[in-house]
Amino acid sequence: MTAVRIINWIARITGIITLLLGLTFWVTSINSIPGIHMLVGITFTLSFLILSIIMVFSSGVRLLGVIGIVYALIIPVFGVIQAGLLVGDLHWLIRLAHMLVGIGAMLVIQTIYTRYGHLKQPAQQTAAAS
Ligand code: HEM
Repeated sequence: MTAVRIINWIARITGIITLLLGLTFWVTSINSIPGIHMLVGITFTLSFLILSIIMVFSSGVRLLGVIGIVYALIIPVFGVIQAGLLVGDLHWLIRLAHMLVGIGAMLVIQTIYTRYGHLKQPAQQTAAAS
């Protein structure tokens, strides 16, 4: 549970920083931001991937783990190819989709963490009682 909690906190912090960097780039177009954004975004994605792999080996959350692995692989692919998609007036749609995919990942991580916490709580209480 401790490792999962730490990974969840890394994902929370890097997810929020990634989102803030992305929004700052969207508003200001400062050229140095995407590089840092991608670095923090990859850390976020890796923590999501590791969390999902742990879930695949935990009964009761296996399906969420598989969904998480597929989702975590989509995030960087979309992030890297998005600059060339719908170039022109409609590019904001791609930017919006990229941001929503990122926010969606943060929600999936919290869903996984909450479900895992509920499953592990009775086991921890039993261990404490005995
Ligand atoms: C490995 C993960 C990620 C990669 C490789 C990546 C890559 C990028 C790149 C290259 C840009 C600049 C696009 C452009 O030049 O128009 C960008 C922008 C942005 N990213 Fe990400 N990103 C990642 C994860 C995330 C996540 C997790 C979020 C949200 C939680 C996010 C939110 C944004 C936002 C709001 C922008 C500004 C709007 C835009 O240009 O799309 N990104 N990202």
